[in-house]
Amino acid sequence: MTTTRTANLLFVSSSLFNGQSKSREIAGEFIAGWTRDHPGGRVVERALAPSNIPHLSGATLAALGKAPDLRTQDEQAAVAFADSLIAEAEAADTIVIAAPMYNFTIPTTLKSWIDHIARAGRTFRYTAQGPEGLLKNKKVVVVVSRGGFYTGNAPAAAMDHQAPYLRTILGFLGLTDVSFIEVEGQAIGPDVAAKGLDAARAAAALLAGLPPQGLPLAA
Ligand SMILES: Cc1cc2nc3c(=O)[nH]c(=O)nc-3n(C[C@H](O)[C@H](O)[C@H](O)COP(=O)(O)O)c2cc1C
Repeated sequence: MTTTRTANLLFVSSSLFNGQSKSREIAGEFIAGWTRDHPGGRVVERALAPSNIPHLSGATLAALGKAPDLRTQDEQAAVAFADSLIAEAEAADTIVIAAPMYNFTIPTTLKSWIDHIARAGRTFRYTAQGPEGLLKNKKVVVVVSRGGFYTGNAPAAAMDHQAPYLRTILGFLGLTDVSFIEVEGQAIGPDVAAKGLDAARAAAALLAGLPPQGLPLAA
């Protein structure tokens, strides 16, 4: 008997403005295409509002180093939370990350998610040949949204500590099949913002294998 595994997508969102979030909107475009391609597929959202994720604390790190039966109730809860974030990432075939640029880098909530899931011996390990990422064989789509412009020859390109950082840490964890969608120019003015959003929408549709702007695919 053959069993078919349900396709599993983890959506990690991190904007402070969920309703109006551009990164969330464009991630949604990709996820809509993925859902069409994976009937019965499961989408799990991990929404990283500041109230939903603490900073990784010394207490949690100490708890992780203790034998499970020696942990206090608070320590058990902290470890269970970190374990659940890792389990979500491990279970996913596709991970979609919506990441606004805040002060030239990612939101602190997203950094905290990374701090919780980067665990030696579980999501990466050190070998004689160097570090090895253990979150393998997954596709990652990262939607980065910015007020300005940082791609190509943009004068501010060197100030982008968002996309290069995400590529580095995801690669460190074994996530090397990563596609970026940029939503740029969102703070420049309505026309520029709309153009940036349209370009990102088209990029998301292309990545999801959908016709851009709802046009029918050519026969
Ligand atoms: C706290 C904060 C810091 C920001 N810092 C930057 C920045 O350094 N560079 C930039 O281009 N835009 C910056 N922006 C603008 C956002 O990146 C832009 O509005 C983006 O669309 C936010 O993503 P979202 O719509 O998914 O929330 C900042 C916005 C906020 C709220």
